[in-house]
Amino acid sequence: MRLKAPQDQTIIGESPAFLEIIDQCSRAAKHDRPVLVIGERGTGKELIAARLHFLSPRWERNFIQVNCAALPENLLESELFGHEAGSFTGANVRRIGRFEEAHNGTLFLDEIATTSLSAQEKLLRVTEYGTFQRIGSNKTQQTDVRIIGATNIDLPTAADRGDFRHDLLDRLALDVITLPPLRHRRDDILLLAFQFGQRVAQEREWMSFPGFSDDMVDALMQHNWPGNIRELKNVIERAVYHSEDEYAPVDTIEIDPFQSPFRPQSIIRKEKNGKSEVSRVQTPLLDGTPVDYGQATATFERTILEDALESSKYNQRDTAKFLSLTYHQLRHQLKKHNML
Ligand SMILES: Nc1ncnc2c1ncn2[C@@H]1O[C@H](COP(=O)(O)OP(=O)(O)O)[C@@H](O)[C@H]1O
Ligand SMILES: [Mg+2]
Repeated sequence: MRLKAPQDQTIIGESPAFLEIIDQCSRAAKHDRPVLVIGERGTGKELIAARLHFLSPRWERNFIQVNCAALPENLLESELFGHEAGSFTGANVRRIGRFEEAHNGTLFLDEIATTSLSAQEKLLRVTEYGTFQRIGSNKTQQTDVRIIGATNIDLPTAADRGDFRHDLLDRLALDVITLPPLRHRRDDILLLAFQFGQRVAQEREWMSFPGFSDDMVDALMQHNWPGNIRELKNVIERAVYHSEDEYAPVDTIEIDPFQSPFRPQSIIRKEKNGKSEVSRVQTPLLDGTPVDYGQATATFERTILEDALESSKYNQRDTAKFLSLTYHQLRHQLKKHNML
């Protein structure tokens, strides 16, 4: 199945899991309610969000995209809702926010889980009443915007932890489209690989695309693709760009050595002689399944603390020095992890 998306982005896939998503997307597009698109990085969330807009009755209006993770908290609010001149340092002129820009259209809030609770409160109001205020203004504005949110984290868990408002989640979750990781739609790997390969061959002005060698096909099928379609695209582009003979099947798969699911985490250790050394620390991270960021970083921190305590024979002042922390910073960390 080839479906035209904007910016000449073709959505490719034939696996049952993918076709189900496309169906769900077509149904959700029609009914003009908020939609959440959930999926690991690189699974195509942006493509699906665009598709939702272009299949919706709003398709001729603006499709505005904001990456919520790209801006600090206060700037994000002004980006979304606009501000009046003089409302904060640096706000010299009035600025129209993205909600106003997206009026009658769609606003795609990518990485929505990273928004602050204060921004979430404002988002809740817009989704419930269609109203908001520019930062620094008392005047209430009315807007008619369809919100599509995307994230790669589990929002119910975030809500239970108090990082995401339950009420906003309920509002946004009228339709939830969860994209399968590439490793769960293996039927699509070669199809996608071929398409990406063909595109590069065309760019290189080859007569035709010679396909992949058997070894390369095996390697593509065996890899777990933690970076999903984005990773596959990069691997294929690299392989086809590096291939020297346009008539020989592409044979050199170069899966980024740094993108291994078993990639160890490194920390810099300082030696007594003042030199630094990079050493490996075993962490529970990245085996290709979704990760709870909070839990994973806490485990990582605890591992470092335990390791440092042990090698300093449990002397806290030495441990602090070992980790370049003050004694109080170390105590704070130990308390945080219930290690006192
Ligand atoms: N079904 C698909 N068919 C073709 N290309 C895809 C598909 N899904 C994703 N891609 C490509 O993979 C890359 C990552 O997609 P993107 O939508 O940015 O993922 P996400 O937002 O989930 O990280 C993009 O280059 C996109 O064009
Ligand atoms: Mg994305």
